[in-house]
Amino acid sequence: MNQMNRQQVQGTVLENRQLCREHYRLVLGVEKFAPTEPGQFVQVSCRPTEPKGEFPVELQWDQAGGPKVCGEELAGRMALLRRPFSLAGRKQTANGVELHLIHRVVGVGTQWLSDLKVGDQVGVLGPLGNRFELPAPDGMAILVGGGVGIPPMLYLAERLAGRRAVAFCGALSRDLLPMTLLEGGKAGREDAIEPLRNVEEFSRHGIPSIISTDDGSFGFRGFVTQALERYLDANVQAAGRAVIYTCGPEGMMKRVAEIAASRGIECQVAVERAMACGMGTCQSCVIRVRKPDPAKPPMAGRDWCYRLACTDGPVFKGSDLLW
Ligand SMILES: Cc1cc2nc3c(=O)[nH]c(=O)nc-3n(C[C@H](O)[C@H](O)[C@H](O)COP(=O)(O)OP(=O)(O)OC[C@H]3O[C@@H](n4cnc5c(N)ncnc54)[C@H](O)[C@@H]3O)c2cc1C
Ligand code: FES
Repeated sequence: MNQMNRQQVQGTVLENRQLCREHYRLVLGVEKFAPTEPGQFVQVSCRPTEPKGEFPVELQWDQAGGPKVCGEELAGRMALLRRPFSLAGRKQTANGVELHLIHRVVGVGTQWLSDLKVGDQVGVLGPLGNRFELPAPDGMAILVGGGVGIPPMLYLAERLAGRRAVAFCGALSRDLLPMTLLEGGKAGREDAIEPLRNVEEFSRHGIPSIISTDDGSFGFRGFVTQALERYLDANVQAAGRAVIYTCGPEGMMKRVAEIAASRGIECQVAVERAMACGMGTCQSCVIRVRKPDPAKPPMAGRDWCYRLACTDGPVFKGSDLLW
C-alpha cells in the first residue's frame, strides 16, 4: 500500500452521535481525501485546532513559567499526540468526502471527541497503514470483531456487498454493542448460532450477523470466539474457501488466529497496538512476526523480526504474528 498518499486535513463534524453506553459515531466531512481501503486508519488530533498561522500549542513557550501546554498533557487534561482510529466507512457526497469513525470513550482524547458538536473542526492525518485483502471471488468472508475492533469490520462489509459473508460481533453486554440493532430484530437464542439480519450496518450489504455478549444480554451467551468455533463446526463446507478477518482485543484475535490455523483457514488480523506517530517514525508500535522467508538464515540467531504495526500493518497474516 502506498503510504505517501497520506495528507493532513481539517474535517468538519457532520455527526457525533452516541451509539451505546461508551461508543460514538463521528462523521467528518472533508473536501477531498486520498483513496482509502478497509483496514486503514487515520490519526485524529483530539484537541482544539490552532488558529491559522499560530504555532501548535505544544510548541508555545510561556516566558514566565516554561512550556505550559506540556503541563496540560502531563496533568491528563489534553491529548498532545494524535490518536489512531480505524475507518468505519467512507462516503462520497456532492460536498466532498465523509469519513466515518466509531470511538469508545476511554481517556482524555476520546472524551474530547465525545464532546464535539456539529460544525466543529478536527485535524485528521491519513489514510495510514495497509489494508485487508478481499477473498477470492468464489470465497467466503468471515468477519470477527470484538468491542473497538468492530468499526473496521463495518467498512469491510461495505466492500463485500453482494459477496458470501457472515459477521460475528462480540461485546461484554448489549449496551456496549456499537451498531444499529434493527427495530424488532431478533437477538437469536442464547445457546444457538443463527446468522440473522438484525444489524443494520451489515444487513444493508446483504450480510447476516451473529452477535455474542459475555453476559448473555443479547444473542449468543459467551465469547465471540466460542460462537465462531460453533459456527465453523456446523458449516465445515462453507469454511472451505473462507478468509477470516478479525480485529479487537489481542487475546481475542490470538484465539481467532489459532482457530483459523487449526482448520487451515486464512486469517487476516488488524492489530491495534498503542501508536504515537502512526507513520513509522517513533517505533512505539513494534510487533514480533515470523521472518518472511524461513529458508533464509535467521537474523542474529532469531527466526523472527520486528515489524511496525502502523506502516507494515495494521493488517498481518494471523500465521505470521508472534503474540
Ligand atoms: C490502528 C488502530 C485503530 C484503532 N481504531 C479504533 C477505533 O476504531 N475505535 C476506537 O474507539 N479505538 C480505536 N483504537 C484505539 C484508540 O486509538 C485508543 O482508544 C485511543 O488512542 C485512546 O485515546 P485516549 O486519549 O482517549 O485515551 P488515553 O488517555 O490515551 O488512554 C486511556 C487508556 O486506554 C489505553 N489505551 C490507549 N490506546 C490503546 C490501545 N491502542 N490499545 C489498548 N489500550 C489503549 C491506555 O493505556 C490507557 O489505559 C485504535 C487503535 C489503533 C492502534
Ligand atoms: S506509531 Fe510511530 S512507528 Fe508506529
